[in-house]
Amino acid sequence: MSPSILVTGATGTIGGLLVRELSARSVPVRVLVRSFERAVPLRALGSCLDVVEGNLQDRASIEAAFTGIDRVFVCTAPAPDQVVLQGNVVEAAEATGRPIHLVAVSAIGAVPPDVPLQLAQWHRVTEAQIRSTPLPATILRPQFLMQSLLRVASSIRTDNMLCGSFHHARLPLVDARDVAAVAASVLTTDAPPGGPDAATPSYTLTGPQALSYPEIAALFSKALGRPIRYVDLTADVYQEYLMSQKLPQWKVDDLTLLAHSFQNGHSWPVTSAVAEWTGRPARTLTHFIRDHASAFQKPPSCSTSENPFVHCATPFWSLDPAPMAS
Ligand SMILES: NC(=O)c1ccc[n+]([C@@H]2O[C@H](COP(=O)([O-])OP(=O)(O)OC[C@H]3O[C@@H](n4cnc5c(N)ncnc54)[C@H](OP(=O)(O)O)[C@@H]3O)[C@@H](O)[C@H]2O)c1
Repeated sequence: MSPSILVTGATGTIGGLLVRELSARSVPVRVLVRSFERAVPLRALGSCLDVVEGNLQDRASIEAAFTGIDRVFVCTAPAPDQVVLQGNVVEAAEATGRPIHLVAVSAIGAVPPDVPLQLAQWHRVTEAQIRSTPLPATILRPQFLMQSLLRVASSIRTDNMLCGSFHHARLPLVDARDVAAVAASVLTTDAPPGGPDAATPSYTLTGPQALSYPEIAALFSKALGRPIRYVDLTADVYQEYLMSQKLPQWKVDDLTLLAHSFQNGHSWPVTSAVAEWTGRPARTLTHFIRDHASAFQKPPSCSTSENPFVHCATPFWSLDPAPMAS
């Protein structure tokens, strides 16, 4: 059967898990990827998958991928070009003249008033663009992904340490598999929420509990069976760390601002949207750690790292690409 769903960002964390989720439900899906090579891990998913090469900078390649499509997952990397790339997808969908349903990944914090992050501002622009079209659409706003912790796995594995700069602020981290499960449900439901005359529905996706970094370290200790300690950095040291990673300035600024805001009492509440869309509770952090235990287990003859900074638990954005979750 020819796919009616197009997934962008399919080689990324959320998009990759979405393609796996749709394949597990035997739903035919088309993915638009920048190179066939990047899609090799997805090809193992079988015959439900139609891979097309394209680039979201290139409107013609997006329009070509829309043949026979009536639902589109809109997702790209968190970066300044996301407004243009996602805007191209929205414009191409509108240009078909068909009521293509857009399911777009935004981020928690995209709704003012919130911490004035640049990333949130970019998501806000795309959300507004989507709302300005007559297309039916659904917006998903995930919290920080638990998968971000895979990027600091080496610090937990080698130094039994997690560091950050969030004091006792609590974050309701969400498992990207749950974000993907919600997206799959929205993309496949017979009666998608919203419509030409309705307001665009949006859902903030969180895990089942808000946890502070000390509590996260305690859950790692319990699940891994050895003590993992949380080291709270001062804002200045945290900023120095971020700069040492040669991150783009916008990321350094956003993460520093976020740390300051949380240290000053900002918080994000837990929501029930994952359970409502999937019919089961959102995955807990303990569930996530157990499913990814091999990434955090100490190798048999492992000495302590001499890296003075180790890796900080930096939410939201990668320092390196996160390993794809299974
Ligand atoms: N990570 C979090 O904690 C978190 C939390 C809340 C919200 N979000 C939001 O979720 C979204 C996705 O995050 P993610 O972590 O899944 O991103 P990601 O892993 O970086 O994946 C980004 C995807 O976009 C694709 N892409 C980038 N530029 C493209 C282009 N020009 N043409 C075609 N494809 C392109 C990438 O393809 P290539 O493989 O070719 O690079 C990749 O498949 C972001 O908007 C982010 O703000 C993330």
